[in-house]
Amino acid sequence: MAKLGWIGMGNIGTPMALRMIDAGHEIMVWGRTRERLKPALDKGAADGASAAQLAAECDAVFLCISDTRAVEEVVFGPHGIASCGAPGKLVIDNSTINPQRTRELAKRLRDEHGMGWLDAPVSGGAIGAAAGKLACLVGGAAADFAQARPWIAAFASNITHMGDNGTGQVAKSCNQAVLTATLAVWGEVLEYAESNGLDPSRLVEALADSWSDSAVRRVHAPNMALKKYPKAKPTLMLKDLDILADTARATKSPMPISALVMNLYRQQLALGFETGGIIGFRQLYAGAAAEE
Ligand SMILES: NC(=O)c1ccc[n+]([C@@H]2O[C@H](COP(=O)([O-])OP(=O)(O)OC[C@H]3O[C@@H](n4cnc5c(N)ncnc54)[C@H](OP(=O)(O)O)[C@@H]3O)[C@@H](O)[C@H]2O)c1
Repeated sequence: MAKLGWIGMGNIGTPMALRMIDAGHEIMVWGRTRERLKPALDKGAADGASAAQLAAECDAVFLCISDTRAVEEVVFGPHGIASCGAPGKLVIDNSTINPQRTRELAKRLRDEHGMGWLDAPVSGGAIGAAAGKLACLVGGAAADFAQARPWIAAFASNITHMGDNGTGQVAKSCNQAVLTATLAVWGEVLEYAESNGLDPSRLVEALADSWSDSAVRRVHAPNMALKKYPKAKPTLMLKDLDILADTARATKSPMPISALVMNLYRQQLALGFETGGIIGFRQLYAGAAAEE
């Protein structure tokens, strides 16, 4: 049986890693913050001393960490994966990072260490991860994908090989464009509905099975209707929209809607909202209406 490494025990990485353990895979974890490893260690994961040890002892190392810089550091930094990498081993990066940097990092890992790379970002949130119901968008060599697919199936129900390295991350940026624009329009529609005498929660339910139905309507719009704003800075979504903007600029792809949505997130950040990420828009529009 393959031995698998896991780095990144954050909001979404933790339920993903726990599903890997529950599926019966032999997992070794490492992380900078020891208390974050506890749920995995309690379930029987092995305790790694560094990213390098995971690379030395495992067939593949999964990453689910903050951003492009963190991925580069964990792979090529001191005591990083590359320092103990060997041909035939794999990095499977579930983080959401820049597609072009992904291509460069994957090439360097292949050229200098003979290791494979799959960009395999996910969508569906921590709730989807805990239920094993994420979408996973994969870029990389077909043979690497075939090897990794049964492992990824522990936390993802829809796994698609998009093409070469970077295509998984491009697909994820498409997802973020649709997701954030949908959130933005729900924010304004709920304010509009209430101003016109509708019960926002009733509207959310009424639109089930309509052309405007979506996972956003099912999962996030009910909270937006009740003005429930879980604490979260808009920075995670802004990171993803920055990736989209950089990628669109490189290919001269017009993305006017995404540019507008990105500015709305920047406004939330500038206003110091702690309700950003998913449902800050309603607060933004409500605030704007109150000031008039
Ligand atoms: N949250 C979601 O719903 C969601 C959905 C889809 C995709 N994603 C993507 O998944 C990734 C993780 O998201 P998250 O929400 O789980 O983030 P998070 O809760 O902020 O956790 C980030 C993790 O990355 C680790 N990390 C960051 N920099 C590191 C470094 N230089 N070396 C080692 N570890 C490092 C952190 O370790 P420490 O604890 O030591 O800081 C932490 O375990 C991101 O790329 C995000 O965009 C998230």
